[in-house]
Amino acid sequence: MTSLAEQIRLLAGHIRAASRLTVLTGAGVSAASGVPTFRGPGGLWKDFRPEDLATPEAFERDPRLVWEWYDWRRQMVASCRPNRAHEILAAWSHRYPSFTLVTQNVDGLHERAGTREVVRFHGSIWEVSCWRRCAASPARWREETVPFPELPPPCPRCGGPVRPGVVWFGELIDPDILERARRAVDCDVCLAVGTSSVVYPAAALLDAARERGAFTAEINPEATPASASCDIALAAPAEEVLDRIEGLLDAEPLR
Ligand code: OAD
Repeated sequence: MTSLAEQIRLLAGHIRAASRLTVLTGAGVSAASGVPTFRGPGGLWKDFRPEDLATPEAFERDPRLVWEWYDWRRQMVASCRPNRAHEILAAWSHRYPSFTLVTQNVDGLHERAGTREVVRFHGSIWEVSCWRRCAASPARWREETVPFPELPPPCPRCGGPVRPGVVWFGELIDPDILERARRAVDCDVCLAVGTSSVVYPAAALLDAARERGAFTAEINPEATPASASCDIALAAPAEEVLDRIEGLLDAEPLR
């Protein structure tokens, strides 16, 4: 069995040789920042049910309850800082000319770390849109009030409720975002970092990259459905693995 150190050396070699690098991230990347993941011990879906909080039907039924959850998460994320994993990915986004980061995370920590080319697959907790899609409002807009004085927050144009700018279960991914993600998996190296790889269509992206000839790797302390099909699965925390890879990349000049 290959040791973690050997896997890290192998992956660093592939990254060094890559012209096009794509990184797919999930909640595990923000775990070291103190943002809870969804699944696993301590995950949000242990105490809450997605069908009560993360579907259009739930919002229709009880917009205040849904907003209480999102307002709480916004407060929590506002007090968190990007960790070493976010920082390294941000550095790569500037260093590699053809780099794309596709994230399922809605917390905005990749952007706060300064990452370029973030494809927000599931939207952003820092954006909202008018629930009634009133004609006077843009499709979505940035809204950073924490906490909101009134729940659900009102649309400044029509006075109806606004909704979080995230993708809920049962909703489609924005076609432009889907297209950008599909283009991004046409790459030399594709990493899936900190995702349980169970939510589609995001979970299909790593396999799609492999089918197009990319070297694929997973970084996650736990095994996932992607572990068996990718080229290497590194079973350790993202902040540790990325830091060690960065150490190796730093040690040799870039091509
Ligand atoms: P999950 O909570 O499903 O998975 C998080 C993964 O991160 C797990 O596989 C953990 O083992 C791993 N993990 C934990 N700590 C880590 C660390 N320090 N480094 C690396 N990995 C670590 O989160 P996602 O896969 O992002 O969607 O979930 C996908 C989607 O399901 C979310 O975007 C959200 C959720 O329901 C919606 O709300 C629509």
